[in-house]
Formats: sequence, C-alpha cells, structure tokens
Amino acid sequence: MIKNQWYVIYDARKLKKGAVVGIKRLSEKLVLWRNTDNTVGCIADKCCHRGASLSQGYVKDNHIQCPFHGIEFSNDGSCQLIPANGKNANIPETFFQKAYPTQEKHGFIWIFWGNQKEQLPEIPFFDNIDAKMHYAGFENHWQMHYTRCIENQLDVLHLPFVHRTTIGKGNRTIINGPNTVMTDKGFNIYIKNELDNGQKPLKPNEMPEPLPNQQHLKFIFPNLWQNFLTPKLLILISFTPVDEDNTLLFLRMYQKMVNIPLLEQLLNFLMMKYNLIILNQDKRIVLKQLPNKSDIHMDERLVMADQPIIKYRQLRQQLLDENEKMP
Ligand code: FES
Ligand SMILES: [Fe+2]
Repeated sequence: MIKNQWYVIYDARKLKKGAVVGIKRLSEKLVLWRNTDNTVGCIADKCCHRGASLSQGYVKDNHIQCPFHGIEFSNDGSCQLIPANGKNANIPETFFQKAYPTQEKHGFIWIFWGNQKEQLPEIPFFDNIDAKMHYAGFENHWQMHYTRCIENQLDVLHLPFVHRTTIGKGNRTIINGPNTVMTDKGFNIYIKNELDNGQKPLKPNEMPEPLPNQQHLKFIFPNLWQNFLTPKLLILISFTPVDEDNTLLFLRMYQKMVNIPLLEQLLNFLMMKYNLIILNQDKRIVLKQLPNKSDIHMDERLVMADQPIIKYRQLRQQLLDENEKMP
C-alpha cells in the first residue's frame, strides 16, 4: 500500500451524528465516529489503557469514550479524561491513540495514511466533477488485493470477452493503441476497439488525437478511477484497500441530465442495477487471478494493449520507492 496518500474510507452520508463504527482499512483496525459538532474522528481501534475496542464506545462531548473504563479521546488521539483519576488529574503523556488526519469532502470521509502529519497535500479528485452533479452509488467488497481490482478497470482488452453480453457486445477484439495520456495526478486512457478484419492495430503513437468530450478512462493515484461517458454522465470508483487480501469498492454514478426526483430515482435504480451486473462480470474473473497481487516485476506476458497496466505498475512503484526514502 502506498503511504502518505489520502484514501476514501467511508461514505459520509452513512455516518450520522453520534455514530461510531469499527472498520478495517489499510490493514489497520480503526474507529470512526461523528461528533455532535459534525466533525469526524478516526483513531486506532484499540484503547491504549487495556486494549478494548473503542468502536464499542460512545460519542460524548465531541470525544470518543472507551466502553471499558470510560477514558475519552479527541479527534487528534489526545486523551481528555481518565475517569478513575478524576477530572482534575493530569493526563500522563503516554495516554494517546494513533490518530489519522481526517477530512470530509466530495461526500466521502478520507484519511491521510502515512507518517507525514504536517503540510498535507490536497485531497486528489477529478476536476470534471462539480457540485451540480448528483450521485448515487453502492459499496462492493472484493476478496482480492487492490492492485488486481484497479488493473481490471484499466484493462481495455477484456471488454469483448468478460462483458460480451453488456458493454462489450459486438466482438470488437482489435485494440488500437490505447493512447495513455499523463495528467498531473495520474493518466487518461483513450480507447478505439474494432472488429478484426485482418488489419493491424494502431500503435499508441498512431492513435488519432482525442476529441473533446470523447469517452475515456481517468485514473488518479493512489486509487481513484473514472469512466468518463459524457460531460453529464460518469462512473467513479474508489478502490479502498482493506488489507492485503481485501478491497472495498465505492462505486458512484454522477449525472446532471435529470433532476426531477422520481425520474432521478428511476435512473439511479436502473444504472446501479446495470453497473452491478457489469461489476460482477469483472469480479468473477478477477477473484480467481493468480497471484492475487500485481507487481512491477512478475511472471506475466503482456501485449501492446496492456500499456495502461504497465503505466500503472511503473507509477505505483515510483510512489512506493519515493515513500521508502522518506523518514
Ligand atoms: S480499556 Fe479503554 S478505558 Fe480501559
Ligand atoms: Fe470490466
């Protein structure tokens, strides 16, 4: 997992005031809660006193209270009260919880996962999603390392096979390019699949210039993916690592075509159903891939059209190496 990055960990709409949840993200057990002043806290879910799970605790005066002996912690992990010592007692320095910088943005709860605590970067997000876009979505758990889940959505060869009954109809098995264009936060992929009439696929540098508003895929490191269908309709997925073997997908459809409530609900319902069918077609294959994690050097024979996957692996490795060198 890539350190010192912002990660989506929860759907903000699901975390109501006073709610406390225990979650596993990035191989760590975390307690996430929303205070009565609407701020959100995320700290290690193991009380530093005697190891109780704080996610069984309560929100009290904008702190989380341990269910075992009532010790209270703030969003920053600092201990505010040890009831057994009395409210006027000093708090020993050793009483604190590991805390994660937390932000609520774009309808998600994000944590900054890493060592860095000051001068945190901006939360990375897609510039083409504006406040006028409505969204609906769902979560989907995959028992697989996040690299395989991400690579599946960067894979442009699988459509006529895995999705032969849905988005891959038409047997367009020749993959021109694809054209992978670097952006400041990741890359975009432009695809042109065709029927095989004996022609040679175009090389990436022979691909036509992308047209404005052409359908394409966007990827932002470490784990945000978008299928840009039109400026008014797109799909987003956050591939959130749970641990080395599990990934939680937060899928959303954003649109600004319909805002009549009943029609919008109908559109959401149909689109979510269709997206789940497509996702399950992918999942069936990905969950059986071996090994369960991809890497820069591995025993696979890749073809020209796998170029986005190669790009992903190279840039991921670069980020891993950069973080390795950090104190
Ligand atoms: S274990 Fe948390 S207060 Fe004792
Ligand atoms: Fe797919």
